[in-house]
Amino acid sequence: MAAVSVFPSQSELGAALARLVAEAAAEAVASSGRFTLGLSGGSMVPLLARELPPALRAVPGSDPSRWLVAFCDERLVPPEHPESTGGAYRAQLLSQFDAPPEVLWVRSELGPAEAARDYEEQLRKAFPGQAPPRFDALLLGVGPDGHTASLFPGHALLQEQDSLISFLDDSPKPPPQRVTMTLPLLNAAQSLLVVATGASKAPVIKRILEQQEQPPVPAARLRPRSGRLRWLLDREAAAELSGDPGKGP
Ligand code: 6PG
Repeated sequence: MAAVSVFPSQSELGAALARLVAEAAAEAVASSGRFTLGLSGGSMVPLLARELPPALRAVPGSDPSRWLVAFCDERLVPPEHPESTGGAYRAQLLSQFDAPPEVLWVRSELGPAEAARDYEEQLRKAFPGQAPPRFDALLLGVGPDGHTASLFPGHALLQEQDSLISFLDDSPKPPPQRVTMTLPLLNAAQSLLVVATGASKAPVIKRILEQQEQPPVPAARLRPRSGRLRWLLDREAAAELSGDPGKGP
């Protein structure tokens, strides 16, 4: 059963998300010497850019220089392109760190298939002996259609059970060419934190959390095998939920 936290505003959700990441990082660094984190694009970029640096300053031992950062999905555009998720994180968040983390960059200059193969190889090397790699935390968004990462409703990628990373060139959300973590990799994580804010997400959040739709939309297929799943919603995104979801921590 997933945990659901509802926050009065996107800003309060962002602060809570940042604190969860900082605390998970401190715990992972203390226990294993590193923290492995996957990031998504879209509105998550400015949210983390604003909230994560102060949270890290407040949590001793959360040291981003001990992190391994990867991307749950990436658009295949040049890094300097405004649609590049990696480029946006480099400019808005990573540039704030005096000692930045190790980052697995998607080589967008390669074609989709080659970029996916290269990125999967980078991941397997970064997680020796782990098949599939188990990220400490993966931060995911959800689209109004229920997509997450770059896994879209009805897409063949939802059936992928072997590859860790796959690619598509027909993304309904532009840009069309992307690489994405697949469900086996997403569901191997220790912690899946799924963020949804704004009224446009309220209908799909109700569909995901309260209606057992068949087939489930991609975000409803997030079921960590042994890890934890937590939804972080602002009040607008939770507006159509009929139950009494947990209030923010
Ligand atoms: C991407 C994202 C994508 C995003 C959702 C929600 O690169 O497009 O990874 O999965 O998380 O589309 O985006 P918003 O939070 O901006 O609505």
